[in-house]
Amino acid sequence: MSFFACCKSQDKNDKISLKKGVNICFKYDSGKRKYIVEEINRDEKGNITSKIFSYNELCVATKNFHTSNMVGEGGFGRVYKGRIKSIDNKVVAVKKLNKDGFQGSREFLAEVMILSFLHHSNLVNLVGYCSEGDQKILVYEYMANGSLEDHLFELPQTKKPLDWYTRMKIAEGAAKGLEYLHAEANPPVIYRDFKASNILLDENFNPKLSDFGLAKLGPTGDKTHVSTRVMGTYGYCAPEYASTGQLTTRSDVYSFGVVFLEMITGRRVLDYSRSSEEQNLVNWALPLLKNKRKYASMVDPLLKGNYPTRGLLQALAIAAMCLLEDANARPLIGDVVTALGVLAMRHVQVGKQKNTKETSSEQGEGSWEMSFIE
Ligand SMILES: Nc1ncnc2c1ncn2[C@@H]1O[C@H](COP(=O)(O)OP(=O)(O)OP(=O)(O)O)[C@@H](O)[C@H]1O
Ligand SMILES: [Mg+2]
Repeated sequence: MSFFACCKSQDKNDKISLKKGVNICFKYDSGKRKYIVEEINRDEKGNITSKIFSYNELCVATKNFHTSNMVGEGGFGRVYKGRIKSIDNKVVAVKKLNKDGFQGSREFLAEVMILSFLHHSNLVNLVGYCSEGDQKILVYEYMANGSLEDHLFELPQTKKPLDWYTRMKIAEGAAKGLEYLHAEANPPVIYRDFKASNILLDENFNPKLSDFGLAKLGPTGDKTHVSTRVMGTYGYCAPEYASTGQLTTRSDVYSFGVVFLEMITGRRVLDYSRSSEEQNLVNWALPLLKNKRKYASMVDPLLKGNYPTRGLLQALAIAAMCLLEDANARPLIGDVVTALGVLAMRHVQVGKQKNTKETSSEQGEGSWEMSFIE
């Protein structure tokens, strides 16, 4: 599936045209901006669903970007909940670009381009956008359960921690989002910003990747990597990417490993409130991952022991493989998806018993042993 269909010609120059399109889409300057919007609007295949909103319409939707409508704030700007009258009062999340944002305009364009062409159940849906003067605003489907980060760390007493299987289901869905970018998009897309705050959760805790402003087109032809300025979020970046700027899909696999470790342990990738040897999650975890007897000590205490012992073993083995120093030794994200599909299943066999039984953390499946084909 090619998502830059609009940039592709029918003749032998296919590759050249595609490349030209890629540059136009990803390098921001005012002269090229118009072309990008024209391309997005040239809905030749009928699969571009994002709308262009007026600034006024989004003011009405968010009660003039009132603080009572604010649901979060990130590096790009503030995010507001809103209702769009023209689409049946649809509930949306409206992200308003900081006018003084350094990288903002470039990231805005990358986000609009990518989400206008790529559609998958594990990528957030871009309802539309507004680009009026210096106002740059993105309008997304509203994700009722906010971000994964909101459900893992510093939980208020009123919030229930995620149970083990929900964590595995979220990990599987997020990995499927990456698999779509790496293996189905053509050219492949390297996400570059895989982290807990960019995994949004709908009302059923289905995960969707958001924030494609840093995404980069992957290597094509014989190339093994793309060279780029190192960007992303400290702690989640693969070591080889951080030191050389050479980016591959395996860099995303490393970031996935970091987030997966956060989900299992309930610890932030960087936590300066901990003792110095525990501040960096990966540095703390790597020696423990070599010793299976230490695994139980790594689990999020909020799970209160409600997890399958073998499931934990296998989950940590997956995390360890994703975090391998040698990028080529890391698994493909597709293999991670397959492994997580098994871990996310609530139907487990108990010992040699033939019957399968639906379990949940509330029912205390911690004492149950999962039987997998190893
Ligand atoms: N589509 C959405 N639906 C509901 N809430 C959202 C949506 N998008 C973002 N949010 C909320 O807004 C918060 C801020 O999101 P944003 O993507 O701007 O920043 P971030 O990911 O936290 O940080 P960074 O800018 O470093 O990526 C999120 O953590 C989430 O709680
Ligand atoms: Mg984000």
